[in-house]
Amino acid sequence: MLGNFSYCNPTKLYFGDESLSYLNTELPKYGKNVVLVYGGGSIKKNGIYEDVLKILRSSGKNVAEIAGVMPNPTLAKLYEGIAIARGHHADLLLAVGGGSVCDYAKAVAVSVHCEEDPWDKYYLRFEEPTCEIVPVGCVLTMAGTGSEMNAGAVITNQETKRKIGHVFADEKVMPRFAILNPQYTLTLPHEQMTAGIYDIFSHICEQYFSGEDDNTSDYISEGLMRSLLRSSRIANQEPQDYEARSNIMWTATWALNTLISRGKSTDWMVHMLGQAVGAYTNATHGMTLSAVSLPYYRHILPYGVQKFKRFAVNVWDVDPSGKTDEQTARQGLAAMEGWMRELGLTMNISELGATEEMIDDIADGTLIMNGGYKVLSRDEIVEILKESL
Ligand code: NZQ
Ligand code: ZN
Repeated sequence: MLGNFSYCNPTKLYFGDESLSYLNTELPKYGKNVVLVYGGGSIKKNGIYEDVLKILRSSGKNVAEIAGVMPNPTLAKLYEGIAIARGHHADLLLAVGGGSVCDYAKAVAVSVHCEEDPWDKYYLRFEEPTCEIVPVGCVLTMAGTGSEMNAGAVITNQETKRKIGHVFADEKVMPRFAILNPQYTLTLPHEQMTAGIYDIFSHICEQYFSGEDDNTSDYISEGLMRSLLRSSRIANQEPQDYEARSNIMWTATWALNTLISRGKSTDWMVHMLGQAVGAYTNATHGMTLSAVSLPYYRHILPYGVQKFKRFAVNVWDVDPSGKTDEQTARQGLAAMEGWMRELGLTMNISELGATEEMIDDIADGTLIMNGGYKVLSRDEIVEILKESL
């Protein structure tokens, strides 16, 4: 490893099918006023809402609610939540849901005591909070984003059609604790499960496809990918397999809790393309990534052949004998495509509602990153988006 870095992750995790009981341990650490944050109602159907509320009541908390946080949470919804949290003098924001709910709670947390407009400050100027940050706790119901153990918060501005993620540097934005019960993910629709699986895989790829040094982070990434491939195939056939779902949940957390990016520059172009598509289509996050991934990776492969070859051999068990490096590398991507099709992922952006007429606007909404194997020009972005149609 050649980089210089620091590493600190303060989120306390409780994992397993009995993990919710640890909410009793965590709640006394915070003041009386709790804002319960959740999505469109899945937690009411599967009983998690009642179980959480029981614990909140028995801990003597004064509870307000922000309900209806939508997938790809919007700026308008953020303003609404800030007003509720302010009115309730929130001591803790308890997010119960998937990445959208967790992200949203973090965005509220950095905005409650902020006098400036959060969109301008955090999403256009990418500044760090200068105000008090309300603590966030998380009860996770969907595996994918890693939001339960990171400082990312993605918000969509529907007026300007921009979907932007801010990964805060301040560790106080990370959830103070996260409860990960794999049982909770068993009620996810199949499509959400596979979208989450691809999101996890993509997070690992975004951090893996960069750099040329021999880096421990890349070996950890390969292990995570191999575990995910195995568990995802089992879960795809048998979604109620607890062991597979539990491995997927744990892999999701480690895929994006900052560990595997240590000592590396990171790529994140698949996410930038996917987010721009998402801003125009409001499509499921993981599916926006699967729809643009292969055109993107095929495009950059010539600039990072050795890493794509390593990916083919170490992750997909491609036999390199008798092949050029590029042939081996391309066979890795072909194997990846086979797995993606097996899971039934969305493979093009047309299916998500994107059209040829939108391509220019989507390209305008795509942030260009410089940590991967190739800094894309706008023309290349347009080309990749067209190939993704
Ligand atoms: O809203 P409810 O009714 O709860 O339904 C949700 C939602 O419709 C449902 N769901 C969640 N848990 C369930 C369940 N349904 C049945 N049973 C359960 N146990 O699933 C749907 C999707 O939920 P959502 O939270 O939107 O999914 P996900 O976890 O994929 O989060 C996506 C958001 O996270 C952002 C994405 O951009 C997107 O806005 N990301 C956050 C990141 C981070 N913090 O680091 C990184 C990611 O790359 C990503 O960008
Ligand atoms: Zn993602």
